[in-house]
Amino acid sequence: TKGAAMVTAVASRLQAQRKQIDKVLALFRLTQEQLVGIRNKMRVEFEYGLKKDTHPLATVKMLPTYVCGMPDGTEKGKFLALDLGGTNFRVLLVKIRSGRRSVRMYNKIFAIPLEIMQGTGEELFDHIVQCIADFLDYMGLKGAQLPLGFTFSFPCRQASIDKGTLIEWTKGFKATDCEGEDVVDMLREAIKRRNEFDLDIVAVVNDTVGTMMTCGYEDSNCEVGLIAGTGSNMCYMEEMRNIELVEGDEGKMCINTEWGGFGDNGCLDDIHTQYDKEVDEGSLNPGKQRYEKMTSGMYLGEIVRQILIDLTKQGLLFRGQISERLRTRGIFETKFLSQIESDRLALLQVRRILQQLGLDSTCEDSIVVKEVCGAVSRRAAQLYGAGLAAIVEKRREDQGLEHMRITVGVDGTLYKLHPHFSRILRETVKELAPQCDVMFMLSEDGSGKGAALITAVAKRLQQAQRD
Ligand code: GLC
Repeated sequence: TKGAAMVTAVASRLQAQRKQIDKVLALFRLTQEQLVGIRNKMRVEFEYGLKKDTHPLATVKMLPTYVCGMPDGTEKGKFLALDLGGTNFRVLLVKIRSGRRSVRMYNKIFAIPLEIMQGTGEELFDHIVQCIADFLDYMGLKGAQLPLGFTFSFPCRQASIDKGTLIEWTKGFKATDCEGEDVVDMLREAIKRRNEFDLDIVAVVNDTVGTMMTCGYEDSNCEVGLIAGTGSNMCYMEEMRNIELVEGDEGKMCINTEWGGFGDNGCLDDIHTQYDKEVDEGSLNPGKQRYEKMTSGMYLGEIVRQILIDLTKQGLLFRGQISERLRTRGIFETKFLSQIESDRLALLQVRRILQQLGLDSTCEDSIVVKEVCGAVSRRAAQLYGAGLAAIVEKRREDQGLEHMRITVGVDGTLYKLHPHFSRILRETVKELAPQCDVMFMLSEDGSGKGAALITAVAKRLQQAQRD
């Protein structure tokens, strides 16, 4: 009959659509073999970065941080910390009490407007100093000359703990006249320009390093710091004898890997999709930070958006209509992805979130959107897992251990907010580094507190040298 024929027609159209959607999602599936390959490539890049000959061209920069030890519990005092480069800019006052290993913190979050992130370096640092002034006023601390630790979450070449030359901006920053400059000098000069207070800038620290320190304060087995947030990066404690860029063979030093640049030499091209290319081309730093762009919060939503645009063009979503909203960059923040993927959420609620984002969806649309988000965030967590497996395996082999236990300090909105990311990350590490027992430790307020702890240690060492 006619009715039956129509039903068959609709069914076969749906089947064809399903096939097209599955074809796109399949691009994001990584086999065990591919993941092993990625782990091995990451390992090769680590060695390139550490060796003097290959370092200048290495895509994973392996930057020495001049952080050589963990706090020993005798540190104490009041410290200021700045935290620039994550989701928020914060100024903190950190009070460390010796003995009991207790830390008290007060902090204030400040917005950094886009025109300042992408204006001139002077404007950026003047703004930072303005925020410090507000905070000191607010806390009634003007006039107190406190030691300061500066968490600056971008790649810096360091020659000591209190010097850091910005190599290049990453993520959403692009202020002029900063690359190639010492960020501590820029901060000092901005403080001078304001001529209102003085600060003793003791340390400049990457957020991964701050996170590792914060966790290391409680667990001495913590020798890796991981950020899965706006950006993607990892640091770890390396044997001095393996760090060719720094004199000396004794003890260990923390290396900021800057693994976000993994793949910039083309070694990930086989898994790079057309959507990844579009995200890269629309970013502030095309061709750079490929791994970061496949894994971190600032870009995952953009990958999702590119896929949705393509599916809509193919007539598989949103009735084939690409709305102005869908064309807008940055609409899918980590918090929305996390909500959409939450298992407790009924599809109706997914539709409501899409509606909030200005996207009118049918029930079928919302199923597809959820699947797309799942495919993209799963790949990200697996890629993180492959990178982390590479470092823990390296550490195990370097120490000649059959089996190794290690703690990884973690921070970042993606890790904290996403309903599945941390689990998939853990599972992947287990599969790719079976001889390592990896414990994950969430660091609360890691980077700011860590900067203060590093400052405290540096101050203690300064004092010891003087005495
Ligand atoms: C970017 C930065 C890196 C930072 C990471 C996480 O990758 O280059 O320094 O650690 O983001 O914030």
